[in-house]
Amino acid sequence: MVYLTAVNYIGSKYSLLGFLDHVYGRISDGSEKVFCDLFAGTGAVGRHFKRRGLRVIANDIQYYAYALNKAYIEINRPPAFKELRSRYEIARSGKSIDAAIEFLNNLSGAKGFIALNYSPAGDRLYYTEQNAERADAIRQSIKCWLEDGIINEQEYFYILCSLLEAIDQVANTASVYGAYLKKFKASALRPLSLKPLELSDKVRQCKVFNRDANELIEEIECDILYLDPPYNHREYGANYHVLETIARYDDPSLNGVTGMRNYPRSRYCRRNAALEALEHLVRNAKAKHILLSYNDEGVMSFDDVRKVLALRGKPRIFKKPYSRFKADNGRQYKRDSTIEYVHHVRVKHAAAW
Ligand SMILES: C[S@@+](CC[C@H](N)C(=O)[O-])C[C@H]1O[C@@H](n2cnc3c(N)ncnc32)[C@H](O)[C@@H]1O
Repeated sequence: MVYLTAVNYIGSKYSLLGFLDHVYGRISDGSEKVFCDLFAGTGAVGRHFKRRGLRVIANDIQYYAYALNKAYIEINRPPAFKELRSRYEIARSGKSIDAAIEFLNNLSGAKGFIALNYSPAGDRLYYTEQNAERADAIRQSIKCWLEDGIINEQEYFYILCSLLEAIDQVANTASVYGAYLKKFKASALRPLSLKPLELSDKVRQCKVFNRDANELIEEIECDILYLDPPYNHREYGANYHVLETIARYDDPSLNGVTGMRNYPRSRYCRRNAALEALEHLVRNAKAKHILLSYNDEGVMSFDDVRKVLALRGKPRIFKKPYSRFKADNGRQYKRDSTIEYVHHVRVKHAAAW
């Protein structure tokens, strides 16, 4: 099944879904029902296994990732926007979701936090002024509508997810938000436009969390625990700080030329902390299978990862050559491709002994 994934994300497994599916086919005995995507990012993996009929638990420490997953994993059908449509006398014919999206796309712009900090009005060129003001109008409207009961929580996350994907498409960056370009590139000049989401209605009662993986692991049970932690020192909080602020809309204080907000550091990005954090996860996993994606350039070595997995049973390896994630910034790499591993263990030994 092919679907669009809009956010261009470091470590996204979108183009490795076929490989992950192959691995799943090799380890599954057909009895698995619950799949946990503990470092869910864009939600590409959880969405895939939801479509395959597994009940998905998804989690990510970043709020923008939580918002994307809240929509794709927890929502099964486009919400009706009943109250919104009746309050604003939005078209009653045709699909209600299209009418709601058209209404949001036509809101007049507002000079809010996004325009005042991430557009030329705030001396930063992440977005054009028009796009930033349109994003502010949508963000402010859904915030007020949720508070006033005009939209419900599902409707709120549906639009927030669509906004995050749409604004990422018109970002004036070399793919991540560590810096903006000095001149607007062609894609950044296109008008921001919300799109309906491609949802799957296959499984109910999926659940999404916004927690540190090492805390949540102690509270959940599943058949397949899929781990896709950061591989290296590149912090998601730094590389996607603008999306985090748009998702939270919490008026943070911003630092320096790039307008970075403070963000939580991940232990998986630090050579001296990642292995211990992984060991805690693996020891505490209440799952039949553990799958871990990692490559040959991560902060943890292949042998160390394998030893940690071996704490719970006999580890097995699946591997695939993979083209590197590249930002559009002319950075040179020694190698164009890496080896992508999936470590697997069928859990034999009890948790946290
Ligand atoms: C390699 S990416 C996951 C990509 C995802 N599989 C996809 O296809 O989009 C790693 C994710 O782990 C998240 N993360 C980092 N540290 C975390 C932690 N301690 N707990 C939960 N999530 C964490 C990051 O925010 C990031 O989204």
